[in-house]
Amino acid sequence: MDRRSFVKRLVGGSALSIYALNKLNAAVYKSIASLNQKYLQDYSPDGVYWEALSKYFIFQDNLLMMNNGTLGPIPETVFNTLMKYFKVQATNPYDFYNFFPSKRDEVRSKLAKFINASSDEVVINRNTTEGMNLVANGLDLNEGDEVLITSHEHPAGIHPWRLKEKRYGITVTEVPLSTPPKSVDEIVNAFKSAITSRTKVISVSHTVYITGLIFPVKELSKIAHENDILFVADSAHGIGMLNIDVKNLGIDILASSPYKWCGAPTGCGLLYVKKEVQDKIWPQIASSGWDTYKNAKRFETLGQQTDPLIFGLGEALDFQSIIGKRRIERRIKTLAGHLKKGLKSIPKVRLHTPTNPYLSSGLTAFSVEGVEPEYIVNYLREKYNIVIRTIGRDRDNTRGVRVSTHIYVSLKHVDMLLEEVDHLVRHKA
Ligand SMILES: Cc1ncc(COP(=O)(O)O)c(C=O)c1O
Repeated sequence: MDRRSFVKRLVGGSALSIYALNKLNAAVYKSIASLNQKYLQDYSPDGVYWEALSKYFIFQDNLLMMNNGTLGPIPETVFNTLMKYFKVQATNPYDFYNFFPSKRDEVRSKLAKFINASSDEVVINRNTTEGMNLVANGLDLNEGDEVLITSHEHPAGIHPWRLKEKRYGITVTEVPLSTPPKSVDEIVNAFKSAITSRTKVISVSHTVYITGLIFPVKELSKIAHENDILFVADSAHGIGMLNIDVKNLGIDILASSPYKWCGAPTGCGLLYVKKEVQDKIWPQIASSGWDTYKNAKRFETLGQQTDPLIFGLGEALDFQSIIGKRRIERRIKTLAGHLKKGLKSIPKVRLHTPTNPYLSSGLTAFSVEGVEPEYIVNYLREKYNIVIRTIGRDRDNTRGVRVSTHIYVSLKHVDMLLEEVDHLVRHKA
């Protein structure tokens, strides 16, 4: 039996329900394709297109999930794929082991295409934290060499560099930024004046978790390269939220967590390492291949991985691709724009996120004078089963709440949230 027929028998023959799962997914894609045909021109923010699509996300008890920035839901098709491959793995681990790992490379190609990279530049790992640590630990830096980060980094973008600082005596400098920064120039100029002759790396959030700021990475990578500096982007929220094109953005290294915005299961991540910089980084886990692979796979000799999760990631990319990355980004920005406009009109609300759509996207953070962030979160959960989260810190006045507006959220949901914030301001602040 040839390989193709054998693999077909493996996923098809072991249980009827596997056929059923395949058929369910095919039906979903068929129906999205016909929605696309019907509403191709429909960019109206709250069109039926988006409402129809939202049905492919499954939520418990009508949960209105506006915190996928922490942990996102997965579409039905991804859930089916997980079930399918976990079932094969559990019932026939021997053949699963022999026949499926090559499928990882299919996912790698999809990931590469999704961010406009080459397959040779893509590592499939566990998450952003792992990617950022691999890069910080794997780079040869000497005592006194400097890494520029910002005052808005996530712990996963700070601690790998701080650890290196403690161990090897490098210098980690935080570029201070206001909340929110007023313009691209303000950010670029802050970096221009922070760069010194010892600066070897600029490592910034692509998507700032506290404020929702989108760093102008294209402009920053340009000044990094003009100064012979490596440019690293912590894009935990980027994939699935933004239409990422690593080449156009000039990024050298990008780490991302597709379980936030891309509909992938938790437990698999993406690390992009540009071909030209791969030799600058040592692998951190070595098994066969670390010294022979001539591509980013040398950073992925991790032993056994949870392949069903990785295949789930592949399915998530298919789901997003059929809708269209550009369309998704536009929808997310429309929802967030509506939210920000509404928040700006409510007295005592302070927006921590820029309103400029070039500097912001699906994460919106704000505080309400006189109302504790925890109170807002609990109130919305109790009243409407809306899930948002507290975020930020006192030291830079960013303590507040954060709302994620993904494609399954409607303008109606955003209005519900706005109405309740307004209510809180009038009765509680
Ligand atoms: C900007 C940013 N970087 C890194 C991380 C860490 O992500 P992970 O836990 O998937 O490694 C997060 C998580 O929320 C984040 O928001």
